[in-house]
Amino acid sequence: MKRILITSALPYVAGVKHLGNLVGSMLPSDVFARFCRARGHDTLFICATDEHGAPVELAALEAGKPVAEYCAHWYGVQKELGDRFGLSFDNFGRSSSVQNHELTLHFARQLWKNGFLELRTTKQAYSPTDGRFLPDRYVIGTCPHCNYDRARGDQCENCTRVLDPVDLKNPRSAVSGAQDIEIRDATHLFLKQSEFVEKLRAWIDSHKSEWPQLVTSIALKWLDEGLKDRGITRDLEWGIPVPDDIGGGKLKGKVFYVWFDAPIEYIAATKEWADNNNRGDAWKHWWYGDEAKDVTYWEFMGKDNVPFHTVGFPVTIMASDEPWKLVDRLKGFNWLNYDGGKFSTSGKRGIFMDKALEVSPADYWRYYLIANAPESNDSNFTWEQYAGTINKDLADVLGNFVNRVTKFCVARFDGKVPGEGSYGDEEKALIAELDRRNQQYTDYLEQAEFRKAMGELRAIWVAGNEYLTRAAPWTLIKTDRAKAAVGVRMGLNLVHLFAHLVWPVMPEMAKKIHEAIQPIGYDNGAIPWPGMNMAEELDQLEAGMPINPPDVLIAKITDEQVEEWKMKFGGADAGAP
Ligand code: MF3
Ligand code: ZN
Repeated sequence: MKRILITSALPYVAGVKHLGNLVGSMLPSDVFARFCRARGHDTLFICATDEHGAPVELAALEAGKPVAEYCAHWYGVQKELGDRFGLSFDNFGRSSSVQNHELTLHFARQLWKNGFLELRTTKQAYSPTDGRFLPDRYVIGTCPHCNYDRARGDQCENCTRVLDPVDLKNPRSAVSGAQDIEIRDATHLFLKQSEFVEKLRAWIDSHKSEWPQLVTSIALKWLDEGLKDRGITRDLEWGIPVPDDIGGGKLKGKVFYVWFDAPIEYIAATKEWADNNNRGDAWKHWWYGDEAKDVTYWEFMGKDNVPFHTVGFPVTIMASDEPWKLVDRLKGFNWLNYDGGKFSTSGKRGIFMDKALEVSPADYWRYYLIANAPESNDSNFTWEQYAGTINKDLADVLGNFVNRVTKFCVARFDGKVPGEGSYGDEEKALIAELDRRNQQYTDYLEQAEFRKAMGELRAIWVAGNEYLTRAAPWTLIKTDRAKAAVGVRMGLNLVHLFAHLVWPVMPEMAKKIHEAIQPIGYDNGAIPWPGMNMAEELDQLEAGMPINPPDVLIAKITDEQVEEWKMKFGGADAGAP
């Protein structure tokens, strides 16, 4: 049995995530995980909230809550929204867990022992106005590479380059805007990343053919520009404290940098899963040594995360000198824009997961977002395009097909699968087409090529519709009942097939469609992937079996609704930067 480990980049804990966040990691990884389960692979799908770091500590302060309580609240919110979107994580953990504290210390101690960490006195931004050292992120200024004027001290959001606060031109405090930034001496722990350049390059090169070009180009650009050693401690209260046995007691009051402990949470969240389910060492079999050799590890993330997953985390693993698993397949995404501008959490611009569900059921969003996933380019959300996709693909093509066939079967064949007649040339031609398309659809999903996969899925629905139009059982019924029966039987078999093919993308809809044909309970597990032989798959339903047509499967979106939502969510100029 194939073993597939899947992680989604961990959403920052504070705040509801927007659809750009959703489509950049959690949703595509969910579709992929569901597909793997449907295929019968042994699949483990992991995510968690990313809870440490300066922004969280500051946000809690602003909200007047203890950080732990603040994080627990937002964890709950994100967990619930994930469930409502059908995100089927085997564990949705928390990077503040005991397990992550333990594993992060384990890695840090290994790195210290192996000589890849060292103490350095650094120049750090200090603001007398704020009365504190400012963590990287809290220094804002102009990017020395691309001149973006709101680059953060850790990374430029515009050109994705990783930065150091002292690199910024015109630095200012993100806390207060104060420009009286001084540079003072501070002792920190550094990870000697520069010693891993050759190893990293060889490893990245070995994945060139499998990773999207976006990913390898970001990774190699980072190496080509000269990899700097990285400070991995911060002056914060909330986080994983540096123990006295690392750094000879000179790091009191400091915690590990959030980007050091967050990826380790991929492993720790797997341990949380094992601990919660009394699975003992099962977590290790996904991650460590010979037992994990046959695991294919997939990571999903937005492009800003790529450097941390192609360099940062791999260096931690390489430097541990222990056989932890490195990523095999790294799927990176571009940005989804909102009506020509950026989705923005701070600017409250765009559509957020909670509000999205007030507009449409999760499955509509899942389909739209996956069909328009920002794979080779950034993609752009507009309400017109959203309504068009739902109305055309889902309502006119898929929904209409299911309704036409099932209603007609009730009206003319007593709501039972008709057994008369046998498949002829029309049916054979359809089967040949679907043999090809189903194989193609399966291959695209196996490679996590989402847009192409959805194009193929749509083509499969269209082929079904065109077949039905040609077969025209509603006309034939007047002259040749057996021939009409053939059309209806094939139609019902197609409805059944669609339920299986749709499940990874639209799980609720798939269940409804499936129940129309066969009341088999797939409630908790996957609706399994169909076999590859369409002649068999499309001749499965037994004659005489009763069906159960669904009520309207997909509600069309009206022009009025589009106008209403545009007003409510703000268009191109509302809150644009
Ligand atoms: N929280 C980060 C973000 O949203 C992603 C962290 S992924 C992990 O950009 F690898 F660090 F866990
Ligand atoms: Zn830049």
